[in-house]
Amino acid sequence: CGLSHDRTKEKTHGRQGTGSRPGLLFISEEPNHRRQPVSDVHIKTVIIPAAGLGSRLLAATRVTAKELLPVYDRVVLDFAIDEAVDLGAERIVVVISTAKIAIQAYLADRSDGTAARPGDGKRIGQEIIYIFQDSPLGLGHAVHCCKDVMLPGPFAVLLPDDIVLGANCLAEMASHYRGGHMIAAMQVKPEEASQYGIFRLGGLPKDNCLPVFGMVEKPSIGTAPSSFAAVGRYILDPMIFDVLERTPTGRGGEVQLTDAITLSGKAVPVVAFRFSGTRHDCGNHDGLLAA
Ligand code: G1P
Repeated sequence: CGLSHDRTKEKTHGRQGTGSRPGLLFISEEPNHRRQPVSDVHIKTVIIPAAGLGSRLLAATRVTAKELLPVYDRVVLDFAIDEAVDLGAERIVVVISTAKIAIQAYLADRSDGTAARPGDGKRIGQEIIYIFQDSPLGLGHAVHCCKDVMLPGPFAVLLPDDIVLGANCLAEMASHYRGGHMIAAMQVKPEEASQYGIFRLGGLPKDNCLPVFGMVEKPSIGTAPSSFAAVGRYILDPMIFDVLERTPTGRGGEVQLTDAITLSGKAVPVVAFRFSGTRHDCGNHDGLLAA
């Protein structure tokens, strides 16, 4: 993980500019208290993992971060940032790699109050912290890398590839959150199950919340334990960090967040939440076009 002791010092010793040197960048010109959280539980920290290689979107991703590709007049990453901002998060932690520092430059530009050009989203008033994950060791590893920069309480993980149009997905989840881990869920066809983390369900559903007994990351065809798949929105109890420390590498030789969620199921409740919006997988060409 790329948060060294020195970088922590940078954080406490003032704001870093928009230079290209990897490190921490603070953007906090607008007081956070002006934004009222729209959810019941206040999710203070949102992690946006964006260090992935983007191999499903070659050739553009040879030189461009997939999160910076356009969806008509907006950039993929804007959807994630706006969802986190509208949720009322105080801190956004963006996980990138040194090959993707253009993301840092893009967000610094969006945070610049003077910008008023076509396509610009709202100015970001939130504090943004960059964490560097230079080895593709998996989503669980990316989340674990953020351990030392979390604000107290449950936090969210938002995968920017998954654009959810309609109601703010994380806010909808937060309004139903009652502790433990909650993961956004949608039904998929049997032949699609091998592309997702699939829930092992049990118990009685209540208010769009389905009790979860475990998850299987990308099951082989014909072995999926249900038709409900995880979408890239998670509200997690901070206990997940301790679990991630002892989660063995799983599917694809990576540390899987789904495995850590399964392991923590003995200690905290886990629910899958059926959200109301429409999800597009912008990590591939068809999904990007559909969005
Ligand atoms: C990740 C998760 C998977 C989830 C999916 C949703 O997979 O590991 O459980 O279903 O996001 O988009 P990825 O698509 O990053 O391989």
